[in-house]
Amino acid sequence: MAEIVAVGEAMERALALLEGGDVVAIPTETVYGLAGDATNGVGVARIFEAKGRPHFNPLIAHVADLAMAERIALFDPLSKRLAQAFWPGPLTLVLPQRPGSGIHPLVTAGLDTIALRMPRGFGGDLIARLGRPLAAPSANSSGKISATTAEAVAADLGARIRLVVDGGATPVGLESTIVKVEGETVRLLRPGGIAAEEIEAAVGMKLLRGAAAGIEAPGMLASHYAPGAAVRLNAGRIAKGEALLAFGGRRAEGWQGAAVLRNLSQTGDLREAAANLFAHLQDLDRSGVTTIAVEPIPFDGLGEAINDRLSRAAAPRDKIASET
Ligand code: TXA
Ligand code: MG
Repeated sequence: MAEIVAVGEAMERALALLEGGDVVAIPTETVYGLAGDATNGVGVARIFEAKGRPHFNPLIAHVADLAMAERIALFDPLSKRLAQAFWPGPLTLVLPQRPGSGIHPLVTAGLDTIALRMPRGFGGDLIARLGRPLAAPSANSSGKISATTAEAVAADLGARIRLVVDGGATPVGLESTIVKVEGETVRLLRPGGIAAEEIEAAVGMKLLRGAAAGIEAPGMLASHYAPGAAVRLNAGRIAKGEALLAFGGRRAEGWQGAAVLRNLSQTGDLREAAANLFAHLQDLDRSGVTTIAVEPIPFDGLGEAINDRLSRAAAPRDKIASET
């Protein structure tokens, strides 16, 4: 069973496990990550194994600073500007990989591009001490809800890993926003913890949406973040016995009949809602209901990523659950 150790006491244990080719669950500002040395094939293979993740779905490599990032990937001026504006923070850049980067090919699933991100806090310190990048997907079984607390990681992966570093609840609560520079344009591959509008303001142009050819973030297939219960979106009326995932101060009709209720944000604050999303979904799911009804959530700011994750949670389960 995994041991849960507070960030203040976990550094040496985490380093020893990573040096030995093992994996460690760590807090980041977005969600918990299941980290392994990105240059060590054994460590990377253990990540896929612990999550039950399909090998065609590549991982994000996490770096401690821009110098480490530039040893791994080739930065065009626009990507560099994005890194300088948002790192450390919840932005992942997809870039051409530099030959001889040292990254194990399992990390990129054979692609010639690599997803890079510089996390805040313990993760950044750990990478700096290790001196090598960490591959880290979200710390949950493939296809399940991402973990935003050490307890949620341990409940899901505890039997398969040895250490969960406890940094408390993750402040952002949604995975990073993934973008890729294409010539003079920037494409949004996955909405996430930085709102598209913020990135648009930094680069002075609209983001392109949708994949250029096929699925560009291979993890972005339909069914994902799947709770055990069915999920019903944009619920205007709550049926008796449903669980209710609420948003804001006004309740949907029939809310009094809900078996259990969690409000993402009483005041309608999308940042608060993002931070609460996965933990609330998990709470409602644990109550044993057959359906979770979700009130409408606006699409602006972080609402885009919240609606993206909810629509994946609601997708039919017979679709391949490929992420992460
Ligand atoms: O906030 C986050 O991004 C968290 C924390 C732990 O850093 N990580 C995370 O990783 O969400 P994961 O593995 O759950 O999601 C990574 C996504 C997947 O959809 C994957 O397909 C995509 O990134 N990805 C990785 N490499 C890629 C590449 N070269 N091109 C396009 N998409 C890529
Ligand atoms: Mg994931």
